[in-house]
Amino acid sequence: SLSKSYSIASIPADGIGPEVIDAAIEVLNGLAETLGSFAFNFTHYDWSSDTYKKTGKYIPDGGLEQLRKHDAILFGAVGAPDVPDHISLWGLRLAICQPFQQYANVRPTKVFRGTQSPLRNCKTGDLDWVIIRENSEGEYAGQGGRSHVGKPWETATEVAMFTRHAVERIMRFAFETAQSRPRKLLTVVTKSNAQRNGMVLWDEIAAAVAKDFPDVTQDKMLVDAMTCRMVLKPESLDTIVATNLHADILSDLAAALAGSIGIAPTSNLDPTRQNPSMFEPIHGSAFDITGKGVANPVATFWTSAEMLAWLGERDASQKLLDSVERVCEKGVVTADLGGTAKTADVTRAVLADIAANY
Ligand code: NAI
Ligand code: MG
Repeated sequence: SLSKSYSIASIPADGIGPEVIDAAIEVLNGLAETLGSFAFNFTHYDWSSDTYKKTGKYIPDGGLEQLRKHDAILFGAVGAPDVPDHISLWGLRLAICQPFQQYANVRPTKVFRGTQSPLRNCKTGDLDWVIIRENSEGEYAGQGGRSHVGKPWETATEVAMFTRHAVERIMRFAFETAQSRPRKLLTVVTKSNAQRNGMVLWDEIAAAVAKDFPDVTQDKMLVDAMTCRMVLKPESLDTIVATNLHADILSDLAAALAGSIGIAPTSNLDPTRQNPSMFEPIHGSAFDITGKGVANPVATFWTSAEMLAWLGERDASQKLLDSVERVCEKGVVTADLGGTAKTADVTRAVLADIAANY
């Protein structure tokens, strides 16, 4: 009999979300069956922009309490052409991240074997980063307001909020992540020349926390110069920590530099483990390719591997990633990576690799 069963909430939501989540569930179940040491019990939550259009809510009353029972949340993407993006983002994704205190957003990026970075001289191994994004406050704290709406003298404020508590916990998490990787190198990104309050607090807290991690090398960058360094010297970076807004932008750049937004995963972690953490591909609902069967499922496979690692199944996580990388290396890749495979072809190839190798 099985020793373990993980209870996973799946929220495929919008656009290509259901296509890539279906593919990931197939692969996760296949992996669990082959390895034989654990199983998954998926509960599907039909929360999406369609639900919102019908009921006026993304999450029904009591929904968060239902979610809280699970070991982890596997999320697709939210966003529909006929719902403003700030409504969908705040209605579903942030409505889970914020109350569940998923304060660490972790975004690993690397160039898979068999894929090509758009950077001319960047080979597999030259770009292997983990970006840690502060996920609870900063520029996305929701502070601010609008006055005199619609009048010529209308004003709007968007206030970035930084607390010692939140900056210190993300900084600690970032140093721990850097410490767990072979290079033990952390680049702290701010904009403390122009943003002279919150960003100076970041720099001060980074310097204080660094004292507890003498084996980690700390390196500092301003966010604008950081974009140049990512493009020109990708091999000089390893673990990176930045604010909610800065890391949001840098991690999309990172995904593009690694070859495609279709491969990059992201984890929204509550490192205290009081609430379930949420795992999702970095990409959005991609309505331009929805329903065509061509979405790259690799981002959601890698996302699933990150979820496995968080659940403590590190060996299974590595096996899944190795299978995905071998499939890329064989050239079974979707159009965004220059191939002709469809979502189902990549999924079948990963399942076949798992069955053949484990
Ligand atoms: P997007 O990531 O959905 O698409 C950007 C481009 O990348 C499109 O050309 C798309 O076809 C392509 N792409 C994305 N994922 C792909 C995949 N797996 N395979 C192949 N190609 C892929 O970003 P966009 O177009 O800015 O936003 C579309 C909607 O998604 C908006 O409503 C936006 O708010 C939402 N969104 C939601 C996110 C989330 O749920 N976390 C994140 C980003 C955007
Ligand atoms: Mg983003």
